[in-house]
Amino acid sequence: MTIKLAETIKNLPHSPTLWANDLVHQKRSGGETVYHMGFGESPFPVPQRLKKALADAAYRKEYLKADGLDDLVEAVREYYRPIYGDEYISATDILIAPGSKLVLYALQMAIEGDLLMPVPSWVSYEPQAKMLHTEVLKVPTTLDDAGYHIDPETLRATIKTARKNGKNPTKIIINAPSNPTGLTIPSEELQVLAKVCEAEGVLIISDEIYGLVSFDGQYRSCARHAPKVTAVTTGLSKHLSLGGWRIGIGFIPRGVPGLHNALRCIISETWSCVSSPVQQACIEAYKRHKDIEDHMQACTDIHELMNTTIAEGLRSHGIIAPKPQGAFYNYPDFAPFREALATNGIKTSQDIHEVLLKEYNLATLPGKAFGAEAEILTLRLSGCDYDGAAALAAYENGEKLDRAFIKKYAPRILQAIDVFGAFVVKYGKVTTAA
Ligand SMILES: Cc1ncc(COP(=O)(O)O)c(C=O)c1O
Repeated sequence: MTIKLAETIKNLPHSPTLWANDLVHQKRSGGETVYHMGFGESPFPVPQRLKKALADAAYRKEYLKADGLDDLVEAVREYYRPIYGDEYISATDILIAPGSKLVLYALQMAIEGDLLMPVPSWVSYEPQAKMLHTEVLKVPTTLDDAGYHIDPETLRATIKTARKNGKNPTKIIINAPSNPTGLTIPSEELQVLAKVCEAEGVLIISDEIYGLVSFDGQYRSCARHAPKVTAVTTGLSKHLSLGGWRIGIGFIPRGVPGLHNALRCIISETWSCVSSPVQQACIEAYKRHKDIEDHMQACTDIHELMNTTIAEGLRSHGIIAPKPQGAFYNYPDFAPFREALATNGIKTSQDIHEVLLKEYNLATLPGKAFGAEAEILTLRLSGCDYDGAAALAAYENGEKLDRAFIKKYAPRILQAIDVFGAFVVKYGKVTTAA
C-alpha cells in the first residue's frame, strides 16, 4: 500500500523565514560569522512584570474556554478601545489564539471565496490559502518614502475582472506596518480602501501585528473606517517580542453574521485554548502599566534607529530603499543594477539571496517569498541581528541612539550594510568581454 500526501500539502515548501533561521543557527554553531537579516524576531527581553506574572500563574492547568480567558479578553478590549473607537469595540467579539498566524488561518478557513492579496505581502498568507484550496488574486502595490500604496481603482478593477471571469473575491488581507516592507498605508488611503471593500462586500482582514511598532507613534487601522467589515488580527509577538509565548488576538466584527461562532467552532475542534498560565500572565500586557508602555516605546525607538540606518546605508550604495515607517524590515530593490547583475548571471531575487548567503554569509529573504515575480530584484531584510537586552539596557541608561550606538551594540548591522556595498561593487557593474 502506498500512503500518499494530500495534494495541497505535498508541494508546500517549509516556511522560508524559519528555514533561513535554522540555516543561520547551523552555520553559527559551526563557528562561522553570519549576518542574519533573514528572520523577523524582535530581540528584546521579557519585561520583568510579565516574567513575574507568568511565574505566578504556573500553577494554572485548566482548559479555558475557546474564546479565551474572560479577564484577558476584557483587558484587550479596554486596551484597544481608545485605538479603534467605541463603535468598533462595541460591535466586535475578541478571540485569543496561539499566535495571530492561526487567527489568520482560521479567518481564511471560515470565509468562503478567493483571497485578494496585495503584493508584496507576508510569506504565510498565500501558503495558508493554498492549504485551504483558496485561489489567490494578487493586487499590485507601489512603495516609496510616503508608504505602501494600494491604488483603489486597481483594487476595484481586480475585483470586477475577477468576478467577470467567474472568480469570487470575498476577502483581502492588508498589513501595515508591513512585513516585508516596513512601510505603512497612509491614513487617507486606508480610508478609501476601506470604502471600496465595503462597497464591494469584501471582508478586510487587517493584520496589525506591527500596529504598535509605528515610528511616528500613530496607529492606523481600517477598523475605524469600515467597522462592520474589518476583522483585525494582532498579538504580542512584535511590540513585546513575545513570539514564543504564542499569544494572538482576533477582533471579529458582528457585522458578518455567524463569523464569530464559526471561528469558535474551529477553535474548539483544533487548538481548544491557549496555554492557561500564558493567558493569565498576558493580562498584565494590556493594563497600560507605565513600565510596559515605556518598554514598548524604547524597543520601537531602537527598531527605528536600526532600520532607518539600514535604509540610508543601502541608498548610499545606490540601492532603492524606501525609508521604513514601522516594524523591523527593509525591502530594497536592486533594479538600478539589473543589467549589470544579469551580465553576472544574477537575474532573480533568489539569485541575489543565494550569492549573498554563499559568498558573504549574509542571510536575507528573496522578494519572491513575498509574492513578487521572480525577476523583481527585491529582498526582505530584517534588522534584528543584535543583542536586544544589551541595547535596551544601554538606551534605558541614557545612551544616545546614534551610529556609535549601533557600532557598539549592533555591529553586524553596519557590517551587513558594508556587505551590500561590496556586493554592488563586485556584481553591479556591467562586465564586457575582453
Ligand atoms: C505580517 C505578519 N503577520 C503575522 C505574523 C504572525 O505572528 P504571530 O503568529 O507570532 O502572532 C507575523 C510573524 O512574523 C508577521 O510578520
